[in-house]
Amino acid sequence: MTNEAVLGIDIGGSGIKGAPVDLVVGDFADKRLRIPTPTPSTPKKVAGVVARIVESFAGQLGDGPVGVTIPAVVTHGVTRSAANIDKSWIDAPADTIFSERLGRPVHLVNDADAAGIAEVKYGVAKGYPGLVIVTTLGTGIGSAMIMDGALVPNSELGHLEIDGHDAETQASAGAKTRLGLSYEEYIPRLQRYYDTIEKLFSPDLIVVGGGISKDAAKYLPYLKLHAEIVPASLKNRAGIIGAAWLAAEAAGRTDLLA
Ligand code: BGC
Repeated sequence: MTNEAVLGIDIGGSGIKGAPVDLVVGDFADKRLRIPTPTPSTPKKVAGVVARIVESFAGQLGDGPVGVTIPAVVTHGVTRSAANIDKSWIDAPADTIFSERLGRPVHLVNDADAAGIAEVKYGVAKGYPGLVIVTTLGTGIGSAMIMDGALVPNSELGHLEIDGHDAETQASAGAKTRLGLSYEEYIPRLQRYYDTIEKLFSPDLIVVGGGISKDAAKYLPYLKLHAEIVPASLKNRAGIIGAAWLAAEAAGRTDLLA
């Protein structure tokens, strides 16, 4: 018997990437397809690209759900924010726009929530008891809070106000690049950010994801925290895998989950 795959799609600022995911093993069941993000990246234009990705894998999918990530707050299928994406996503009925365009159920989730659940179900935080906070350091800062395996969605810890600033404007990988900071200069900003996370939530484990996690050896060993802090392990596969996992869960397809 072959495992039924669930399609995961990750909408990013420069590319929209999708792959069928085998949720029993927690990995791609086929090669990933990437299509550049359209400009402007409005819900309708993005839905067109998502449809192309779904069509290209249609032969491998049953009639199951499709999981899609977006860098925004998502409640009841409606996107509620747009920090680093086209402002037309604010209050867009995105689940409906996508489901109608694709003619099949689409489950939209926050990008960091997807990456976080993937790390907890299949990655570095697999089986970790207690509170796990996954942060993604990219253009912004994304976060996922997962307590004993259960996700508390839309935590948005990148927008904590610290020292009068929106945290992601000071401590994201994007801020490091924008301000031309060396790791030596960047580390105190990370220390301030994760100190605040600890003070507010006392997590048992902090996972650091995003592109910059590949350089974790240059900054993680220098952070002084009570909680263990580790780099993410699924790299750029986490969003797609987590989107598929959350879509299967939302559809009640527990038979497909690890
Ligand atoms: C957004 C979050 C998103 C994060 C990472 C933030 O600016 O508000 O929803 O998860 O960026 O993309």
